[in-house]
Formats: sequence, structure tokens, C-alpha cells
Amino acid sequence: TENYDIPLIFDEVITFRLSPGGAQSLYGVEPDITTLGKIIGGGLPIGAYAFREALSKPLEIPEAPFPESGKPRIGFSGTFNAHPLSMAAGIATLRELRPQVYEHLNSLGRRIRMEVKALLDEKGVVAQVIGIGSLFNILWTNEEVWDYRSAATSDMGLSHCLSLALINRGIYLRAHPNVSTATTGEDVRRFLEALGDALEALKPIIAGRTPHLLERR
Ligand SMILES: Cc1ncc(COP(=O)(O)O)c(C=O)c1O
Repeated sequence: TENYDIPLIFDEVITFRLSPGGAQSLYGVEPDITTLGKIIGGGLPIGAYAFREALSKPLEIPEAPFPESGKPRIGFSGTFNAHPLSMAAGIATLRELRPQVYEHLNSLGRRIRMEVKALLDEKGVVAQVIGIGSLFNILWTNEEVWDYRSAATSDMGLSHCLSLALINRGIYLRAHPNVSTATTGEDVRRFLEALGDALEALKPIIAGRTPHLLERR
């Protein structure tokens, strides 16, 4: 992007949960623009973006500098900007998110991905377990998943069936499954137990829709 003078944007709305510096620090890439949300508001409505100084020019209000620093203000107004409740929740959350919290989240994520994979193998169900850090997901395909196209080979119908089967077993797992700071080892155990039952119940559906995802034994 540097060679072609194209601004590189990292949407870190979800990936800010991966490390104290988000995905960009994990991968060692410095984008020109970063967008943030969710996590920095501790669950309350919030959005933020950051950018290199060179990109700020069109947004600057030169006639209204900050009195202390003399730096220009950025024109970015909105009814709910800097809402006190979101700001308070955000500060409280960011104070909690110390490096060891990320380590805990990421190790729970690693464990859950490993155990879900082992459970699928044990049940003779072929599916891909994807994710990084505290994020995980099951994709219903026998192709290795590494980009949008390969992810799109997943049978969405089976994802919906699994969601439903898990809801019937007391677990709510939708579009972006993850573990959080509130997740305990007991939660993981309950989830895996429900998943084992759900996979068993889904086998006739898998056999009907995508028989190649069932191992012949
Ligand atoms: C990766 C990503 N980017 C951006 C957004 C949009 O965030 P918001 O709804 O807070 O504007 C979402 C919302 O789910 C998201 O998951």
C-alpha cells in the first residue's frame, strides 16, 4: 500500500481483543487508519478511529486549536460522542485489560480450539476449527480455511443447526464465538459437553446434507 500510496486501514473493532496493541502489534503491521469499537467501551455503544498525522489535514479546524497544546482540533461531531457512560465503562474496561488478562484469554481460546478439534475427531465429524486468541469457530467444510473464499465453502445451514442444537442444551453460540474474561474452566467444560451431545444429534442432518463431512468407520 505504501508503494501505491493507498491508506491501509485496520478494522480492529473485534481484533483489539487479541493483544494490548490489537492485531497490528501482533502481526507487526502499522496501518494508516485504525478503527476501534466494542471492547474500548466495555460493551456500551462506542466507536473511535485513529490515523497518521498526515491524514488528519482534511478534518482539522485550524481556527480552533486546543489552547494548551496549540494543536488543531479535529472536526468529528456527533450526538453520542464521548458519552459519559460509555467513557466510564471504557476506562474501567481498559484498566482491567492488563497483559496477563490477554494471556489468560488467549490460553482459554487455545484450549477451546484444541478440545473442539479433538471432539470433532472423536465423533468422526470433519469440520475446520478456526480462530486466534480468544476467538474460535467451527466451519463446515473439508477444505483448509485460510481466506474468505475457503471460508465461504462452509455449509451455513449446519452452523444454524449447531446453534439451535446448542441453544437446546443451554449454550448460546452465534456468529462470532469467543471466550471472554468472564469465561471459567467450568463454562468450557459445560460447552464441550453440550457440543458433544449436539454433534451426536446433528449426525443424521450432516449425513443428509454433507455426507462427505462424516468419517466412515
Ligand atoms: C469487525 C467489525 N467492524 C465494524 C463493526 C461495526 O461496529 P459498530 O456497529 O460499533 O459501528 C463491527 C460490528 O459488529 C465489526 O464486527
